[in-house]
Parts: sequence; structure tokens; C-alpha cells
Amino acid sequence: MSHEYVPHHSAEPETTVLAPAGPETTTTLPPVSEPDTASRRRVVDGTGLATLEGRDVSAWFGSRKVLDRVSLTMHAGEITALIGPSGCGKSTFLRILNRMHELVPSAQLAGEVLLDGEDIYAPQKKLIDARRQIGMVFQKPNPFPAMSIKDNVLAGLKLTGTKASRATKNDLVEQCLTRAGLWTEVRDRLDAPGGGLSGGQQQRLCIARSLAIKPRVLLMDEPCSALDPTSTRVIEETMLELAQEVTIVIVTHNMQQAARVSDRCAFFLAAQGTPGVIVEHGDTTSMFDNPQDPRTYDYVNGRFG
Ligand SMILES: Nc1ncnc2c1ncn2[C@@H]1O[C@H](COP(=O)(O)OP(=O)(O)OP(=O)(O)O)[C@@H](O)[C@H]1O
Ligand SMILES: [Mg+2]
Repeated sequence: MSHEYVPHHSAEPETTVLAPAGPETTTTLPPVSEPDTASRRRVVDGTGLATLEGRDVSAWFGSRKVLDRVSLTMHAGEITALIGPSGCGKSTFLRILNRMHELVPSAQLAGEVLLDGEDIYAPQKKLIDARRQIGMVFQKPNPFPAMSIKDNVLAGLKLTGTKASRATKNDLVEQCLTRAGLWTEVRDRLDAPGGGLSGGQQQRLCIARSLAIKPRVLLMDEPCSALDPTSTRVIEETMLELAQEVTIVIVTHNMQQAARVSDRCAFFLAAQGTPGVIVEHGDTTSMFDNPQDPRTYDYVNGRFG
């Protein structure tokens, strides 16, 4: 199935790219070789789907280095799970993938992020383009509470002044809510406030809002950590559906979730006082059943973190 994504807008302000900081002093462990096998869950033709690649990504807050030369390919049409203990830099890496890191005043970064081979940090690239193509869903559902469900979905379009006919907007609302797995629950109350939905519904509303800008990649930072098990399963099902059309990167502390939804995993770790690195990455089955690094084995088996 092929899909063309036409970006509409970004809700984020334009900022300048920050210069790399500090000399590179430590070395990331070499990545484990990529498996030859295709996705274990689905077959995608790759057309219209985007691959996102971080190359030698380092990050600092002030003088403190928190990520050291992290390289990871997040393949088109797959779900990649970022796992690892608290504070090892998963969210920082995720924010670098759609240029949110640079909004933190003290933050600096080095390395490249390639979307289908093109560096989103290249001088001629605009922040707004990265945001259009690479959407983000956060840990805590953050709909506009007083705004209607419908307007929440359309919020991105409104913020950028993108014009669309009423019919087009209605179609978009239905399409995005359907893809986010929420349509049947809210179709009769589209004008009710977003804040009146349950936590799980609010998170799906946020997913629908992200989808309305037609991203090619969806980043999800612990999207289910505030949700009950039933809502979590609904979001997971939604992710599995969406992954046929959008490349997904999810941060999760829930190993069962990583095992259930992801095609590949990357295990991040920051040893005491050192920046985060990827210890090991590979297809999810191998990471869980036959990890190469004893630290991965310990982590996925719940021995630390
Ligand atoms: N805005 C900030 N200013 C200064 N330091 C920060 C900031 N955000 C994160 N850090 C630091 O960067 C490191 C990586 O944080 P990050 O939030 O990326 O970790 P994480 O792996 O997502 O953790 P968690 O699993 O708890 O969400 C931590 O040491 C954290 O304290
Ligand atoms: Mg985090």
C-alpha cells in the first residue's frame, strides 16, 4: 500500500540550529548488525514510508553530555522501541529526532538525523519541515481541554492558518479519528470539549491531532504510561494499524509492550556519570530471546532499571 504524505503545517516556532558542543571523548559501543529478516508482523512495500536515521548523535545540557554518538536506523513502516533505564537519554534522543531538543536554551547537539537520507539539520532545512514530517505524542495526553474534539484534531491547521473547506475538514477529522481508533467513541459528540474524554481517549485524540498534519514518522514518548491496561491495549492496536502507513518510534518502560508492538528495539544505557549510549539494538525477538550483551539480558529480564 502506498501513501503520499503532504505536510500542512507546524505548530512550532522557527529556531536556529545549535552548533555542536565540546570535543568527542567517549565511544559508543558498535551497533549489533541488523537482522536480515523483514518485519515479523507485516509486509510493507516501503513506498511513501520514511526511514529515519540518527548518525553519531550526541547531546548536551549545558556542559553535561547526556548522549554519546548514538546511531540508529528506524526503518520505514516499522515500530522501533527505545528502551532503557530512567535518565539514559531516550527522550532526549526522541526530541532530537524532530528538532525539539534545540528549543531548550542550554541544549546542544552534534550528529545527523536523516529522513529518507536527507539531514533535517542541514542549513537549508527548516525546523517547520521537520515538524511537519515527524510528529510527536507525549507521555501525558495534552489536548486543549476546552476546545472541541473536532477542533483539537484540526488545531495544527488552525495554528498555521492552513485553509481548508468545511467538507475537507470534516473528512480529515473523521479520517484522523478513525486512524487513531477513536471515531466510533466520539462521532456523536465532536463538538464536546476534548477535556471531557477519558485519559486513554485523550491520548488517542492527541494521536489524531498528530495525524492531521500527515506526518511520515510518529514519535511516541511513553504514550501509555498514564493509562490503564485496557486503554493501553487500544493504543497498541492503534499503533500496529498506523505502522502500515507511518514509521513509529516509541519510548517505553514496559517490556511487554516493547515485545508486543515493536519490530526492533534499541537498548539505551548511561553508566554512572557517563552519557547515554546504545548498548545493543536489533530485531525485537533477538533482543528479548537472544541478546548479545549481558546488560541487555539483565534489563529485558527486569534485573535492573
Ligand atoms: N531540560 C533539561 N535540562 C537539563 N538536563 C536535562 C534536561 N532534560 C533532560 N536532562 C538530563 O538528560 C539526561 C537524559 O534525560 P532523558 O529525559 O532523555 O532520559 P530518559 O531516558 O528519557 O529518562 P526517563 O526514562 O526517566 O524518561 C538525564 O540525566 C536528565 O537529567
Ligand atoms: Mg523520558
